[in-house]
Amino acid sequence: MKKIKTLISSFKIKNKVNKIAGQINKDYKNKDLLVVSVLSGSVVFCSDIIRKLDIDFEIDFIRVKSYKGKKSSGKIKFLCDTVIDVKGKDILLIEDICDSGRTLSYVKDLFIKRKANSVKICTLINKKVEKFKQIKIDYFGFEIDNEFVVGYGLDYNGKYRGLPYIGVI
Ligand code: IMP
Ligand code: MG
Repeated sequence: MKKIKTLISSFKIKNKVNKIAGQINKDYKNKDLLVVSVLSGSVVFCSDIIRKLDIDFEIDFIRVKSYKGKKSSGKIKFLCDTVIDVKGKDILLIEDICDSGRTLSYVKDLFIKRKANSVKICTLINKKVEKFKQIKIDYFGFEIDNEFVVGYGLDYNGKYRGLPYIGVI
């Protein structure tokens, strides 16, 4: 395995997960929450978040892909759809990282079209780059500069998702 420099430690991630989940618990107390994990990158973050929720919720998954290696293809490939009817639900999209915002804009618009009651975005990392269009990030863990990161769900060509911290190759 290549050497990976730590950017965000697992200790910092754990504290942030607790903080974000605490906020979600408050905000969704009397809502019909459907957590939608945007696969594959969000698998680790999402599973840590949901284990800190003390409110009722359902979970579903959507799978999209846009990156090849360290570059975005600029196009979103739709790989797998949700199963639960989202109409009237309060959707919380959980994502690993927001870069250009293309993926999250696309997925958010899709659920709005499908008549969700509300659609909010929760991403562990927000990259400080120009967004493809204006996008509201409702919950985020960390802001980072424009560099390619791996670990805690994030991959480089499918690898490194299991690292317990976020690192830079
Ligand atoms: P966006 O559509 O440009 O916001 O890109 C979001 C998607 O690209 C994420 O869901 C990731 O799958 C991938 N991505 C963006 N930046 C990185 C990175 O630094 N490391 C790993 N994957 C990334
Ligand atoms: Mg992702």
